[in-house]
Amino acid sequence: MSELALLAEKLDAADELAPLRSRFVLDDVVYLDGNSLGALPAQVPERVADVVRRQWGELRIRSWEESGWWTAPERIGDRIAPLVGAAPGQIVVGDSTSVNVFKALVAAVRMAGDSRDELLVDATTFPTDGYIAESAARLTGRTLRAVTPSEIPSALSGRTAAVLLNHVDYRTGRLHDLPALTAAVHACGALAVWDLCHSAGALPVGLDEHGVDLAVGCTYKYLNGGPGSPAYLYVRGELQPRFDSPLPGWNSHADPFGMSASYAPAPGALRGRVGTPDILSMLALEAALEVWEGVSVAAVRAKSLALTDFFLRCVSAYTEPGRVVSVTPEPHGERGSQIALRCPDAGEVMKRLIDRGVVGDFRHPDILRFGFTPLYVSFAETERAARVLGEVLA
Ligand SMILES: Cc1ncc(COP(=O)(O)O)c(C=O)c1O
Repeated sequence: MSELALLAEKLDAADELAPLRSRFVLDDVVYLDGNSLGALPAQVPERVADVVRRQWGELRIRSWEESGWWTAPERIGDRIAPLVGAAPGQIVVGDSTSVNVFKALVAAVRMAGDSRDELLVDATTFPTDGYIAESAARLTGRTLRAVTPSEIPSALSGRTAAVLLNHVDYRTGRLHDLPALTAAVHACGALAVWDLCHSAGALPVGLDEHGVDLAVGCTYKYLNGGPGSPAYLYVRGELQPRFDSPLPGWNSHADPFGMSASYAPAPGALRGRVGTPDILSMLALEAALEVWEGVSVAAVRAKSLALTDFFLRCVSAYTEPGRVVSVTPEPHGERGSQIALRCPDAGEVMKRLIDRGVVGDFRHPDILRFGFTPLYVSFAETERAARVLGEVLA
Protein backbone atom coordinates (compact mmCIF):
# COMPACT_ATOMS: atom_id res chain seq x y z
CA MET A 1 0.00 0.00 0.00
CA SER A 2 1.36 3.46 -0.85
CA GLU A 3 2.25 6.00 1.78
CA LEU A 4 -0.73 8.14 0.75
CA ALA A 5 -3.13 5.20 0.89
CA LEU A 6 -1.92 4.46 4.42
CA LEU A 7 -2.35 8.08 5.38
CA ALA A 8 -5.90 8.00 3.96
CA GLU A 9 -6.71 5.04 6.21
CA LYS A 10 -5.47 6.96 9.24
CA LEU A 11 -7.42 10.08 8.29
CA ASP A 12 -10.59 8.02 7.85
CA ALA A 13 -10.09 6.33 11.22
CA ALA A 14 -9.83 9.74 12.91
CA ASP A 15 -12.73 11.29 10.98
CA GLU A 16 -15.67 12.03 13.28
CA LEU A 17 -18.01 12.46 10.30
CA ALA A 18 -17.16 9.02 8.84
CA PRO A 19 -20.20 7.31 10.45
CA LEU A 20 -22.48 9.64 8.44
CA ARG A 21 -21.70 7.63 5.30
CA SER A 22 -24.19 5.05 6.51
CA ARG A 23 -26.95 7.66 6.15
CA PHE A 24 -26.55 7.47 2.34
CA VAL A 25 -27.04 4.89 -0.40
CA LEU A 26 -23.51 4.44 -1.75
CA ASP A 27 -21.61 1.84 -3.75
CA ASP A 28 -17.99 1.33 -4.73
CA VAL A 29 -17.99 4.24 -7.18
CA VAL A 30 -16.01 7.25 -5.95
CA TYR A 31 -18.70 9.88 -6.20
CA LEU A 32 -17.20 13.36 -6.51
CA ASP A 33 -20.20 14.99 -8.15
CA GLY A 34 -22.24 15.87 -5.08
CA ASN A 35 -21.75 19.52 -6.07
CA SER A 36 -24.02 18.77 -9.02
CA LEU A 37 -26.40 16.11 -7.65
CA GLY A 38 -26.02 14.92 -4.06
CA ALA A 39 -26.18 11.20 -3.26
CA LEU A 40 -29.43 9.59 -2.09
CA PRO A 41 -30.02 9.74 1.68
CA ALA A 42 -31.08 6.31 2.93
CA GLN A 43 -34.45 7.31 4.38
CA VAL A 44 -35.76 9.08 1.26
CA PRO A 45 -37.19 6.11 -0.72
CA GLU A 46 -39.37 4.90 2.13
CA ARG A 47 -40.57 8.43 2.94
CA VAL A 48 -41.45 9.15 -0.66
CA ALA A 49 -43.32 5.83 -0.84
CA ASP A 50 -45.33 6.86 2.24
CA VAL A 51 -46.08 10.28 0.77
CA VAL A 52 -47.30 8.67 -2.44
CA ARG A 53 -49.16 5.65 -1.06
CA ARG A 54 -50.63 6.90 2.20
CA GLN A 55 -50.61 10.71 2.11
CA TRP A 56 -51.71 10.95 -1.50
CA GLY A 57 -53.25 7.50 -2.10
CA GLU A 58 -55.30 7.26 1.09
CA LEU A 59 -55.64 10.72 2.65
CA ARG A 60 -55.82 12.47 -0.71
CA ILE A 61 -56.98 16.13 -0.33
CA ARG A 62 -56.90 15.85 3.48
CA SER A 63 -53.09 15.76 3.32
CA TRP A 64 -52.87 19.47 2.54
CA GLU A 65 -53.68 19.92 6.20
CA GLU A 66 -53.23 16.57 7.94
CA SER A 67 -49.87 15.73 6.35
CA GLY A 68 -48.63 19.32 6.56
CA TRP A 69 -48.43 19.83 2.82
CA TRP A 70 -49.65 23.42 2.86
CA THR A 71 -47.04 24.62 5.35
CA ALA A 72 -44.15 22.56 3.91
CA PRO A 73 -42.39 25.51 2.19
CA GLU A 74 -41.91 27.41 5.47
CA ARG A 75 -41.35 24.31 7.59
CA ILE A 76 -38.60 22.99 5.32
CA GLY A 77 -37.18 26.50 5.02
CA ASP A 78 -36.74 26.48 8.79
CA ARG A 79 -34.87 23.17 8.48
CA ILE A 80 -32.44 24.69 5.99
CA ALA A 81 -32.05 27.89 8.04
CA PRO A 82 -29.43 26.64 10.56
CA LEU A 83 -27.31 25.28 7.71
CA VAL A 84 -26.96 28.78 6.24
CA GLY A 85 -26.84 30.69 9.52
CA ALA A 86 -30.39 32.03 9.49
CA ALA A 87 -32.89 32.29 12.33
CA PRO A 88 -36.29 30.70 11.64
CA GLY A 89 -38.96 32.52 9.65
CA GLN A 90 -36.75 33.86 6.86
CA ILE A 91 -36.55 31.04 4.32
CA VAL A 92 -39.22 29.62 2.08
CA VAL A 93 -38.69 26.59 -0.16
CA GLY A 94 -40.11 26.35 -3.66
CA ASP A 95 -39.53 26.93 -7.37
CA SER A 96 -36.09 26.70 -8.95
CA THR A 97 -33.03 28.75 -8.12
CA SER A 98 -33.48 30.58 -11.41
CA VAL A 99 -37.01 31.66 -10.46
CA ASN A 100 -35.88 32.69 -6.99
CA VAL A 101 -33.04 34.78 -8.45
CA PHE A 102 -35.72 36.66 -10.37
CA LYS A 103 -37.92 37.19 -7.30
CA ALA A 104 -34.96 38.30 -5.17
CA LEU A 105 -33.44 40.68 -7.70
CA VAL A 106 -36.64 42.43 -8.70
CA ALA A 107 -37.69 42.71 -5.04
CA ALA A 108 -34.23 44.14 -4.21
CA VAL A 109 -34.51 46.77 -6.95
CA ARG A 110 -37.97 47.75 -5.70
CA MET A 111 -36.63 48.10 -2.15
CA ALA A 112 -33.66 50.17 -3.28
CA GLY A 113 -35.95 52.86 -4.67
CA ASP A 114 -36.30 54.82 -7.90
CA SER A 115 -33.13 56.90 -7.58
CA ARG A 116 -30.87 53.87 -7.98
CA ASP A 117 -30.69 52.85 -11.61
CA GLU A 118 -27.99 50.22 -11.87
CA LEU A 119 -27.71 46.51 -11.11
CA LEU A 120 -24.38 44.77 -10.74
CA VAL A 121 -23.93 41.08 -11.48
CA ASP A 122 -20.98 38.77 -11.03
CA ALA A 123 -19.38 38.56 -14.50
CA THR A 124 -18.22 35.01 -13.77
CA THR A 125 -21.64 33.85 -12.61
CA PHE A 126 -23.44 30.64 -13.45
CA PRO A 127 -25.17 31.67 -16.69
CA THR A 128 -28.78 31.55 -15.49
CA ASP A 129 -28.12 34.31 -12.93
CA GLY A 130 -26.72 36.54 -15.67
CA TYR A 131 -29.66 35.91 -17.99
CA ILE A 132 -32.18 36.61 -15.26
CA ALA A 133 -30.33 39.70 -14.06
CA GLU A 134 -30.47 41.04 -17.61
CA SER A 135 -34.22 40.44 -17.80
CA ALA A 136 -34.79 41.86 -14.29
CA ALA A 137 -32.86 44.99 -15.27
CA ARG A 138 -34.88 45.37 -18.46
CA LEU A 139 -38.19 44.88 -16.66
CA THR A 140 -37.36 47.35 -13.92
CA GLY A 141 -35.82 49.94 -16.26
CA ARG A 142 -32.32 49.64 -14.75
CA THR A 143 -29.02 49.12 -16.51
CA LEU A 144 -27.02 46.00 -15.83
CA ARG A 145 -23.26 45.92 -15.43
CA ALA A 146 -21.29 42.67 -15.22
CA VAL A 147 -18.16 42.94 -13.07
CA THR A 148 -15.98 40.34 -11.36
CA PRO A 149 -16.43 40.00 -7.60
CA SER A 150 -13.03 41.61 -6.97
CA GLU A 151 -14.14 44.66 -9.00
CA ILE A 152 -17.38 45.08 -7.03
CA PRO A 153 -16.04 47.50 -4.39
CA SER A 154 -14.83 49.97 -7.04
CA ALA A 155 -17.94 49.49 -9.21
CA LEU A 156 -20.36 50.39 -6.39
CA SER A 157 -21.83 53.88 -6.37
CA GLY A 158 -24.88 55.86 -5.35
CA ARG A 159 -26.50 54.53 -8.51
CA THR A 160 -26.27 50.89 -7.43
CA ALA A 161 -29.59 49.32 -6.50
CA ALA A 162 -28.55 45.71 -5.95
CA VAL A 163 -25.67 43.33 -6.49
CA LEU A 164 -26.04 39.64 -7.39
CA LEU A 165 -23.10 37.48 -6.36
CA ASN A 166 -22.17 33.83 -6.10
CA HIS A 167 -20.77 32.64 -2.80
CA VAL A 168 -18.69 29.93 -4.51
CA ASP A 169 -17.84 30.03 -8.21
CA TYR A 170 -19.35 26.95 -9.88
CA ARG A 171 -16.43 26.51 -12.23
CA THR A 172 -13.28 27.30 -10.24
CA GLY A 173 -14.55 26.58 -6.72
CA ARG A 174 -13.38 30.02 -5.57
CA LEU A 175 -15.07 31.16 -2.35
CA HIS A 176 -15.92 34.85 -2.41
CA ASP A 177 -15.72 37.02 0.69
CA LEU A 178 -19.40 37.26 1.61
CA PRO A 179 -18.93 39.34 4.78
CA ALA A 180 -16.65 41.95 3.16
CA LEU A 181 -18.61 42.20 -0.10
CA THR A 182 -21.94 42.46 1.73
CA ALA A 183 -20.50 45.21 3.92
CA ALA A 184 -19.23 47.09 0.85
CA VAL A 185 -22.63 46.81 -0.85
CA HIS A 186 -24.33 48.13 2.28
CA ALA A 187 -21.85 50.98 2.66
CA CYS A 188 -23.09 52.38 -0.65
CA GLY A 189 -26.74 51.88 0.34
CA ALA A 190 -27.47 48.97 -2.02
CA LEU A 191 -28.81 45.47 -1.40
CA ALA A 192 -26.78 42.28 -1.54
CA VAL A 193 -28.31 39.17 -3.15
CA TRP A 194 -26.26 35.98 -2.81
CA ASP A 195 -26.49 32.71 -4.74
CA LEU A 196 -25.54 29.93 -2.31
CA CYS A 197 -25.87 26.95 -4.67
CA HIS A 198 -22.24 25.88 -4.21
CA SER A 199 -21.77 26.76 -0.56
CA ALA A 200 -24.87 25.75 1.41
CA GLY A 201 -24.25 22.40 3.05
CA ALA A 202 -20.50 22.58 2.47
CA LEU A 203 -19.37 25.54 4.55
CA PRO A 204 -20.71 28.15 7.00
CA VAL A 205 -22.60 30.96 5.29
CA GLY A 206 -23.68 33.20 8.17
CA LEU A 207 -26.59 34.97 6.44
CA ASP A 208 -27.90 36.66 9.60
CA GLU A 209 -24.48 37.36 11.05
CA HIS A 210 -23.30 39.18 7.94
CA GLY A 211 -26.55 41.03 7.29
CA VAL A 212 -27.21 39.52 3.86
CA ASP A 213 -30.40 41.00 2.40
CA LEU A 214 -31.62 38.25 0.11
CA ALA A 215 -30.24 34.87 -0.82
CA VAL A 216 -31.19 31.92 -3.00
CA GLY A 217 -29.86 28.42 -3.37
CA CYS A 218 -30.61 25.01 -4.72
CA THR A 219 -31.12 21.89 -2.61
CA TYR A 220 -30.00 19.14 -4.99
CA LYS A 221 -26.25 19.65 -4.50
CA TYR A 222 -24.76 19.55 -0.97
CA LEU A 223 -28.24 19.37 0.56
CA ASN A 224 -28.94 16.08 -1.26
CA GLY A 225 -32.60 16.88 -1.98
CA GLY A 226 -32.78 14.89 -5.24
CA PRO A 227 -32.93 15.75 -8.94
CA GLY A 228 -34.77 19.03 -9.46
CA SER A 229 -35.63 19.38 -5.77
CA PRO A 230 -37.04 22.83 -4.98
CA ALA A 231 -34.80 25.80 -4.27
CA TYR A 232 -35.09 28.31 -1.42
CA LEU A 233 -35.34 32.03 -0.94
CA TYR A 234 -34.06 33.90 2.11
CA VAL A 235 -35.44 37.35 2.88
CA ARG A 236 -33.90 39.01 5.93
CA GLY A 237 -36.57 39.46 8.62
CA GLU A 238 -36.46 43.25 8.78
CA LEU A 239 -36.86 43.51 4.98
CA GLN A 240 -39.85 41.21 4.77
CA PRO A 241 -42.49 43.95 5.17
CA ARG A 242 -40.91 45.69 2.14
CA PHE A 243 -40.51 42.54 0.05
CA ASP A 244 -42.69 43.25 -2.98
CA SER A 245 -42.68 40.04 -5.02
CA PRO A 246 -42.70 40.26 -8.80
CA LEU A 247 -44.55 36.90 -8.76
CA PRO A 248 -47.36 37.44 -6.27
CA GLY A 249 -49.23 34.16 -6.51
CA TRP A 250 -52.16 33.01 -4.44
CA ASN A 251 -49.86 31.00 -2.14
CA SER A 252 -48.33 34.21 -0.80
CA HIS A 253 -51.67 35.96 -0.30
CA ALA A 254 -52.56 36.96 3.26
CA ASP A 255 -55.79 34.98 2.87
CA PRO A 256 -55.16 32.42 0.12
CA PHE A 257 -58.53 30.74 0.43
CA GLY A 258 -60.41 34.06 0.53
CA MET A 259 -60.06 34.00 -3.28
CA SER A 260 -59.96 37.76 -3.40
CA ALA A 261 -59.53 39.43 -6.79
CA SER A 262 -56.96 41.79 -5.32
CA TYR A 263 -53.61 40.84 -3.90
CA ALA A 264 -52.62 41.41 -0.27
CA PRO A 265 -49.28 39.90 0.71
CA ALA A 266 -48.97 37.52 3.64
CA PRO A 267 -46.59 38.58 6.38
CA GLY A 268 -43.14 37.05 6.72
CA ALA A 269 -41.05 34.78 4.53
CA LEU A 270 -44.04 33.18 2.90
CA ARG A 271 -44.33 36.29 0.76
CA GLY A 272 -41.74 34.49 -1.33
CA ARG A 273 -44.17 31.71 -2.23
CA VAL A 274 -45.92 31.72 -5.60
CA GLY A 275 -48.15 28.79 -6.56
CA THR A 276 -48.96 25.26 -5.44
CA PRO A 277 -45.80 23.65 -4.05
CA ASP A 278 -44.23 20.61 -5.71
CA ILE A 279 -45.09 18.30 -2.82
CA LEU A 280 -43.39 15.08 -3.93
CA SER A 281 -40.03 16.76 -4.47
CA MET A 282 -40.44 18.94 -1.45
CA LEU A 283 -41.14 16.08 0.93
CA ALA A 284 -38.26 14.06 -0.52
CA LEU A 285 -36.10 17.06 0.36
CA GLU A 286 -37.54 17.19 3.86
CA ALA A 287 -36.57 13.55 4.41
CA ALA A 288 -33.12 14.20 2.91
CA LEU A 289 -32.48 17.04 5.36
CA GLU A 290 -32.70 14.57 8.25
CA VAL A 291 -29.12 13.48 7.51
CA TRP A 292 -28.06 16.79 9.09
CA GLU A 293 -29.35 15.76 12.51
CA GLY A 294 -26.54 16.43 15.01
CA VAL A 295 -24.07 17.55 12.32
CA SER A 296 -22.13 20.79 12.78
CA VAL A 297 -21.45 22.87 9.68
CA ALA A 298 -18.06 23.82 11.19
CA ALA A 299 -17.07 20.13 11.29
CA VAL A 300 -18.26 19.73 7.70
CA ARG A 301 -16.12 22.69 6.65
CA ALA A 302 -13.05 21.33 8.46
CA LYS A 303 -13.42 17.98 6.71
CA SER A 304 -14.08 19.62 3.35
CA LEU A 305 -10.80 21.54 3.56
CA ALA A 306 -8.93 18.45 4.73
CA LEU A 307 -10.35 16.45 1.78
CA THR A 308 -9.52 19.06 -0.83
CA ASP A 309 -6.02 19.59 0.64
CA PHE A 310 -5.46 15.83 0.58
CA PHE A 311 -6.75 15.54 -2.99
CA LEU A 312 -4.37 18.25 -4.20
CA ARG A 313 -1.49 16.52 -2.41
CA CYS A 314 -2.38 13.15 -3.99
CA VAL A 315 -2.82 14.69 -7.45
CA SER A 316 0.61 16.26 -7.29
CA ALA A 317 2.13 12.97 -6.13
CA TYR A 318 0.43 10.84 -8.79
CA THR A 319 0.39 13.15 -11.81
CA GLU A 320 3.22 14.27 -14.02
CA PRO A 321 4.00 17.95 -13.23
CA GLY A 322 2.15 20.40 -15.47
CA ARG A 323 -0.28 17.79 -16.85
CA VAL A 324 -3.14 19.44 -14.92
CA VAL A 325 -3.29 22.87 -13.28
CA SER A 326 -5.57 23.60 -10.36
CA VAL A 327 -7.72 26.68 -10.88
CA THR A 328 -9.12 26.41 -7.34
CA PRO A 329 -7.43 28.81 -4.92
CA GLU A 330 -4.95 27.31 -2.45
CA PRO A 331 -5.83 29.54 0.55
CA HIS A 332 -8.56 27.99 2.66
CA GLY A 333 -10.36 31.32 2.94
CA GLU A 334 -10.82 31.36 -0.83
CA ARG A 335 -11.76 27.73 -1.44
CA GLY A 336 -15.18 26.14 -1.60
CA SER A 337 -15.66 22.36 -1.48
CA GLN A 338 -14.47 21.42 -4.94
CA ILE A 339 -11.24 21.16 -6.87
CA ALA A 340 -11.22 22.23 -10.50
CA LEU A 341 -8.30 21.09 -12.62
CA ARG A 342 -7.56 22.58 -16.00
CA CYS A 343 -6.53 19.98 -18.53
CA PRO A 344 -6.61 20.36 -22.35
CA ASP A 345 -8.35 17.00 -22.93
CA ALA A 346 -10.66 17.30 -19.90
CA GLY A 347 -13.80 15.97 -21.65
CA GLU A 348 -12.07 12.74 -22.73
CA VAL A 349 -10.27 12.37 -19.38
CA MET A 350 -13.54 12.62 -17.46
CA LYS A 351 -15.16 9.95 -19.63
CA ARG A 352 -12.27 7.59 -18.87
CA LEU A 353 -12.42 8.42 -15.17
CA ILE A 354 -16.13 7.60 -15.07
CA ASP A 355 -15.43 4.29 -16.85
CA ARG A 356 -12.94 3.54 -14.07
CA GLY A 357 -15.43 4.27 -11.28
CA VAL A 358 -14.47 7.84 -10.40
CA VAL A 359 -17.31 10.27 -11.07
CA GLY A 360 -16.64 13.98 -11.31
CA ASP A 361 -17.76 16.25 -14.11
CA PHE A 362 -16.49 18.19 -17.07
CA ARG A 363 -17.10 21.90 -17.49
CA HIS A 364 -16.55 23.46 -20.87
CA PRO A 365 -13.94 23.97 -22.27
CA ASP A 366 -11.17 22.35 -20.24
CA ILE A 367 -12.15 21.87 -16.58
CA LEU A 368 -12.25 18.63 -14.60
CA ARG A 369 -14.47 19.31 -11.59
CA PHE A 370 -14.37 17.23 -8.41
CA GLY A 371 -16.85 18.01 -5.64
CA PHE A 372 -16.15 16.85 -2.10
CA THR A 373 -19.22 16.22 0.02
CA PRO A 374 -17.88 15.79 3.55
CA LEU A 375 -20.95 13.86 4.71
CA TYR A 376 -20.09 10.86 2.54
CA VAL A 377 -16.72 11.21 0.80
CA SER A 378 -13.83 9.43 2.52
CA PHE A 379 -10.10 10.06 2.42
CA ALA A 380 -9.56 6.57 0.96
CA GLU A 381 -11.87 7.46 -1.93
CA THR A 382 -10.05 10.76 -2.37
CA GLU A 383 -6.71 8.94 -2.66
CA ARG A 384 -8.23 6.43 -5.09
CA ALA A 385 -9.69 9.20 -7.27
CA ALA A 386 -6.31 10.95 -7.52
CA ARG A 387 -4.52 7.65 -8.21
CA VAL A 388 -6.93 6.70 -11.02
CA LEU A 389 -6.68 10.24 -12.41
CA GLY A 390 -2.87 9.91 -12.47
CA GLU A 391 -3.20 6.61 -14.38
CA VAL A 392 -5.71 8.03 -16.85
CA LEU A 393 -3.53 11.08 -17.49
CA ALA A 394 -0.31 9.07 -17.90
C1 LIG B 1 -24.61 28.80 -8.98
C2 LIG B 1 -25.87 28.33 -9.62
N1 LIG B 1 -26.91 29.18 -9.74
C3 LIG B 1 -28.04 28.80 -10.33
C4 LIG B 1 -28.21 27.53 -10.82
C5 LIG B 1 -29.49 27.17 -11.53
O1 LIG B 1 -30.32 26.44 -10.76
P1 LIG B 1 -31.73 25.91 -11.35
O2 LIG B 1 -31.42 25.20 -12.62
O3 LIG B 1 -32.16 24.93 -10.31
O4 LIG B 1 -32.61 27.05 -11.52
C6 LIG B 1 -27.18 26.61 -10.69
C7 LIG B 1 -27.34 25.22 -11.18
O5 LIG B 1 -26.49 24.39 -11.15
C8 LIG B 1 -25.97 27.02 -10.09
O6 LIG B 1 -24.93 26.19 -9.98
